[in-house]
Amino acid sequence: MRALKVDLSFAIGGIKNHELYFEHLGGSGGDPTGAVRDLLARDFGSVEAWRADLKATGMAARGWAWTAYDWDEGRLFNYIGDAQNTFPVWNATPLVALDVYEHAYFLDYQTDRASYIDAFFANLDWGVVNEWVGRYGIPTR
Ligand SMILES: [Fe+2]
Repeated sequence: MRALKVDLSFAIGGIKNHELYFEHLGGSGGDPTGAVRDLLARDFGSVEAWRADLKATGMAARGWAWTAYDWDEGRLFNYIGDAQNTFPVWNATPLVALDVYEHAYFLDYQTDRASYIDAFFANLDWGVVNEWVGRYGIPTR
């Protein structure tokens, strides 16, 4: 029973994680605009500081790095995830999903994860992220 339940959370987590990942890729990256820009600047000091922290988180992770709005704390955090089903934080809404499993980059970047993360940032669709901020009613003040 334990193995079945662990595998269930791994499988469902894997689906949800990748749905977020692919939905917000395909954009032109660059600096965020709108509400998400304001949130990142407020909670990390600057967009550059957020980007540096998420990149460092992604370099340290085994599977995922997340920017999520924590409803209890009322602010964004960059969280680590080591697998599809480890370290999600309750009552937090993910806004950026950075897949750092080797399968995400090895064919194109081999061991150069840092360049893959740079490419990830360059292809984010901030319009999608801003749509999520609105859809979930994340307060921007
Ligand atoms: Fe993946």
